[in-house]
Amino acid sequence: MTEKMKMTGLPDKIRLICKEETDSTNTDVKQAALSGQEEGYTVLAEKQTAGKGRRGRVWTSPSGTNLYFSILLKPEIAVDKASMVTLLMGMAAAGAIESIGLPAKIKWPNDVVVNGKKVCGILTEMNFLDDGSYAVTVGTGINVNQEQFPEEIRKTATSLKLEKGAFLEREELLTEVLCRFWEVYSRFKKDGNFAELREEYEKLLVNRGRAVEVLDPKGAWRGIAEGINDTGELMVRHEDGRLEAVYAGEVSVRGIYGYV
Ligand code: BTN
Repeated sequence: MTEKMKMTGLPDKIRLICKEETDSTNTDVKQAALSGQEEGYTVLAEKQTAGKGRRGRVWTSPSGTNLYFSILLKPEIAVDKASMVTLLMGMAAAGAIESIGLPAKIKWPNDVVVNGKKVCGILTEMNFLDDGSYAVTVGTGINVNQEQFPEEIRKTATSLKLEKGAFLEREELLTEVLCRFWEVYSRFKKDGNFAELREEYEKLLVNRGRAVEVLDPKGAWRGIAEGINDTGELMVRHEDGRLEAVYAGEVSVRGIYGYV
């Protein structure tokens, strides 16, 4: 893909670097941030040899089938709110997948699912720069044309090709995701919160109205997910009626009857 790549229609701010192979596009972008690269610097790889998932997991990244890319951002919001950009990428990826006719939904905070199975994962990492500011790396993996999955994730993972029953052009999908991402990111940056985007986000939120288990390092608990607040936290109603805002940086959620 990368050699033949004819990427047109990308947002002006995106500077796309295409690699045949790398350890992790997130690592590349974090290094680029430290050497002074600007917001919008983006690395796309055909294959990752050490793809990283959330919670120290491996993101298996075979060659020639999927999308693996990371974007450098400097959102100029409080560092403890920077993980909100994960939600923006979720919106962009889910929207792009919907545009090819698949019922994509966001499993808060960082998965995109189709028909109850994961097709996309997002890993957001932060690092401080010499001038005291910080950079955010938003890494995204989308299972596009992959047909086989390792036994341990076969029940919860799928690809766009498997769901659609047809091969998909990765270049077109990538352009769609990046354009959508830049659009929501620009709107987000105006106020640095989700007030304007919340309704749009909640339409895509698979957890909304569902019973979830909140996997908090201090102890798991159950409730009903009601939506998000202006800072992108998941609002979960406890069984005793209390409403709690769950912050994406620390916890994740899962359905009480399965993955979603
Ligand atoms: C997850 O769901 O656990 C997050 C997966 C994120 C994978 C992507 S692939 C591109 C970027 N580079 C990485 O090493 N990880 C992210």
